Amino acid sequence: MITAYEFIDKKRRGMEHTPEEIRFFINGYVKGEITDYQAAAWLMAVCLNGMTDRETVELTLAMAHSGNNMYSFGTDGFYCDKHSTGGVGDKVTLFAAPVCAACGIYVPKMSGRGLGFTGGTIDKLEAVPGFETALEEERFLSVVKKAGCAVAGQTGTLVPADKKLYALRSVTATTESIPLICSSIMSKKIVMGADGVVLDVKVGDGAFMKDEESAEKLARLMISVGEAAGQKCSAVLTDMSKPLGYTVGNAVEVIEAIEALHGKDVPSFHEVAYEISAQMLLLSGYGTEDECRAAVENAVKSGAALERMRTMIALQGGDARICDDPSLLGEIHKAKTEYPVYARQDGYISGISCEKTGMVSLKLGAGRENKTDPIDMSAGIVFSAFVGDHVKKGDLLATLRTSRDIDIEDIASEFSAVFGYCENEVIKRKNVIKVIKSC
Ligand code: URA
Repeated sequence: MITAYEFIDKKRRGMEHTPEEIRFFINGYVKGEITDYQAAAWLMAVCLNGMTDRETVELTLAMAHSGNNMYSFGTDGFYCDKHSTGGVGDKVTLFAAPVCAACGIYVPKMSGRGLGFTGGTIDKLEAVPGFETALEEERFLSVVKKAGCAVAGQTGTLVPADKKLYALRSVTATTESIPLICSSIMSKKIVMGADGVVLDVKVGDGAFMKDEESAEKLARLMISVGEAAGQKCSAVLTDMSKPLGYTVGNAVEVIEAIEALHGKDVPSFHEVAYEISAQMLLLSGYGTEDECRAAVENAVKSGAALERMRTMIALQGGDARICDDPSLLGEIHKAKTEYPVYARQDGYISGISCEKTGMVSLKLGAGRENKTDPIDMSAGIVFSAFVGDHVKKGDLLATLRTSRDIDIEDIASEFSAVFGYCENEVIKRKNVIKVIKSC
């Protein structure tokens, strides 16, 4: 039997743990027999020396089994989950869930809240009047069965080991480790128990993974861990070097997602949202890649996806009229201040910094610095120009929205710096960088 000291020392020396040792650590840490300072030392050793794929699988499974909160879906269809590693303006779930539901698969989606400069789907949906995000298991499953999809927040603690370890990682500079990120995300996906998971792995300045190589490494590891737990998985590497779509915030993002369900082609968002939806259908065995893409287009064109969204919102207590007239949401969450930001020079927009955009959105009130901070649903950013566009000095670039009493001129001046300019036409980066199928 190994001791906590020997366990830490083994990783410090770069050695591989046995599955029993990993289970000893996770069980001991959750029970409080292994202390935070011992766990922190081990996390740092993992950051420095890494873990083998076998160790990562064992760690993820041990974490997944640290609670007793497994969901049990029926065998009456394909249940498909999706997960985004987090981004700015990421509203893909609001599109993909009803689209896939309209195509006949179930989408039981537990989503998170935003923290720091990345937004959370649950916060966005709470902009819809009456919409309930805290659903008990029975109600959650009933909405999934009736609407084909449900989007709710986590009730209770899904994975106790992750709750403790994630909190510890965030204060010990041990967040950025591929095996630790993989085990944190996949333990929650495994406990959710869907038949398939499509992983949207973001790459760029607004993402955990700043370059394609590390994003691909994380994606492949997550796929192999999911598959080891019996789930079908695939991953899509998507660009997070600029915001996803023309809106960043809460109400404004819900409006944009509903407009996309009406068929509006929202640049950058369109490509990612359609791809993720098609990959979810592909995992379910719906058909060939072309058939899945055609099904996504058809679900939007026919209005079937919008109908699923209407049903889901109504079943979760929300005002479904916003599906027919999304501008209602803009009226309900009308910002006290709408401040235009204009181009400072002529040129092509070469970039829009994702991280800086997220920080400005946070300052406007659309996000939270601490877990318990309130959110201003009216706050956010609506872009009028995007990467690749040619603008003239004085053209409108974006409108900042807030209902808070803040120094908007100061924030607008900070926001102006998110735009990069160049003289020559910009070669637009692909929004969908790569699709990674089963390893
Ligand atoms: N999201 C998670 O849930 N865990 C991580 O470690 C990183 C992103």
